[in-house]
Amino acid sequence: MRAKIIGTGSCLPEKTVTNNDLSALMDTSDEWIKSRTGISSRGLVSSETETTLSMAVSAGTSALANADLLPEDIDLIIVATVSSDFVTPSTACMVQSELGAVHAAAFDINAACSGFLFALNTVDAYFQAGIYRTALIIGVETLSKIIDWKDRSTCVLFGDGAGAAVLCADEEGIMANLQGSNGSGGHVLMCRNRTNNNPFVSTDPSMDYLYMDGQEVFKFAVKKEAECIQELLTQAGLAPTDINWYLLHQANQRIISSIARKLKLPLDKFPSNLDHCGNTSAASIPILLDEVHRAGTLAPGDLVLLSGFGAGLTWGAALLKW
Ligand code: COA
Repeated sequence: MRAKIIGTGSCLPEKTVTNNDLSALMDTSDEWIKSRTGISSRGLVSSETETTLSMAVSAGTSALANADLLPEDIDLIIVATVSSDFVTPSTACMVQSELGAVHAAAFDINAACSGFLFALNTVDAYFQAGIYRTALIIGVETLSKIIDWKDRSTCVLFGDGAGAAVLCADEEGIMANLQGSNGSGGHVLMCRNRTNNNPFVSTDPSMDYLYMDGQEVFKFAVKKEAECIQELLTQAGLAPTDINWYLLHQANQRIISSIARKLKLPLDKFPSNLDHCGNTSAASIPILLDEVHRAGTLAPGDLVLLSGFGAGLTWGAALLKW
């Protein structure tokens, strides 16, 4: 049995922050951000009650309703995030409690922007092994709390939000998947957890916010994501044109356009929500999936390829029959 997505949900923060709003706070412009990334605005949390947990619960609740399942029907909850509210308990355990998913095992994974794909592939492996039959996976980030708001080259790129999918074991669903990591490249995109306040340790607090070497990440993304998609297509015995929809990690419209060019495909096979979401890391693919699902874009039987890359470095992809 493979993992089949039977419901999706998402949650964006109440507050939308435009590029012009940011240019009132720092030396940047709508023209610079839009032309280099495709981003016009992003959602950012704006109150203490809007948290990683609250957005995860909202997206999860919406996905369960969309799947027509109850929380107690779920066997497994996996949350992909690098911006949990608490070090422990995990966000997944807190979601389980909030939803009342009393029969679910719950844990978080950290694969940064590839996190939702790692969660999806993990669920698929559990289903193939016959261990679980239903799962809720959530990609959620409040990156605004780990971004360095004095670093204009990174802070304009990211947004907050959550996306979720409910899966059940089925004959059809995921057809092929892969994931990979290269820890030796991890230094190009990193954020330390917290400064050690042990009186015997002296640490540099400047590491406590997200650091990114944008050009190195850009090169890695364009090369690795294209390779990853080709490898998945080879695994499935399909050509790029056989796929109906490519739902890629939403980091930068120029990266998405470059992948489309490499695959010799029209850009209209690559839906995008960068314009109004920015890069929401682990949440980006499931938010996009929920948007295209609710818009009626995906028809039953469509072949949908999800692919992403992120800090770690990590990358992953999954091919599904909708
Ligand atoms: N507004 C205005 N100017 C800015 C700016 C901003 N927000 N951020 C940087 N600049 C300036 C720089 O200071 C630099 O000025 P200089 O030439 O006077 O030194 C100039 O713009 C060019 O900076 P550079 O970093 O070379 O820009 P770039 O064309 O490489 O674009 C990124 C920067 C971040 C948009 C691009 O590298 C990128 O998208 N990388 C991938 C990031 C990514 O996908 N991360 C997520 C991974 S999951």
